Amino acid sequence: MRRYLIAANWKMHGSLEMVHKFAESFDQDVDLGADVVLFPPAVYLNAMQGLTSKFVQSGAQDLGVALQGAHTGEIAASMIKDVGCSWVIVGHSERRNDQGESDALVAQKFASAIAADLRPIVCVGETLAQRDAGGAFAVVSKQLRAIIDLCGVSVLVKGAIAYEPLWAIGTGLTATPEQAGQMHASIRELIAVLDKDTAKATRIIYGGSVNPENAGLMFAQEEIDGALVGGASLQAHSFAAIIAAL
Ligand code: PGA
Repeated sequence: MRRYLIAANWKMHGSLEMVHKFAESFDQDVDLGADVVLFPPAVYLNAMQGLTSKFVQSGAQDLGVALQGAHTGEIAASMIKDVGCSWVIVGHSERRNDQGESDALVAQKFASAIAADLRPIVCVGETLAQRDAGGAFAVVSKQLRAIIDLCGVSVLVKGAIAYEPLWAIGTGLTATPEQAGQMHASIRELIAVLDKDTAKATRIIYGGSVNPENAGLMFAQEEIDGALVGGASLQAHSFAAIIAAL
């Protein structure tokens, strides 16, 4: 049985005040029925410790692949661990686009996270043009293959896969539950061909304009194991409503 995973990706939003308000609005001692993980900008991760618990965890939105050294601006996996985080996002489409991150680099980031005992959520997804051309799964499988080829298939279970069609991110357009469910099933099938147990146990979550209104329909899909939420995670009450939709 896969446990739900609900993640809040704040992207480049937030403040110290928001960190405190947000943490206070969740009862740290209550199992919300899912792994709940908050991803604030990295400068706030330290402040978040002590406010998070075994039920509400925190993670970084990205990491550098080097262990340490002369890499100005980069943050190593060990540093993320050091401030008490257990999770990290790799390969978000905004980084793939804005920073030109390749599938190969994202795979290295995934490997760095695993080596540091962090749990990586790798984001995969196609553009609207790629979907319209019938190439959505080809894009997603290429992104995943880069990770499997470098790290092996069984490590997938230590992290999670977030299917985030680019055309649904921050646009208010959501994939229909059927579209998402279908892609999730195809991803699981791709993994199952290599390792059935890993396929069964790996969490595949959906991201792209998830909100309190559509979350329940998404979670009703057998293949959808949770959500990576951007915009609707910036208000504690709407994020809480998404968790409640479980
Ligand atoms: P959105 O972002 O919920 O604002 O669409 C999701 C994401 O980019 O992870």
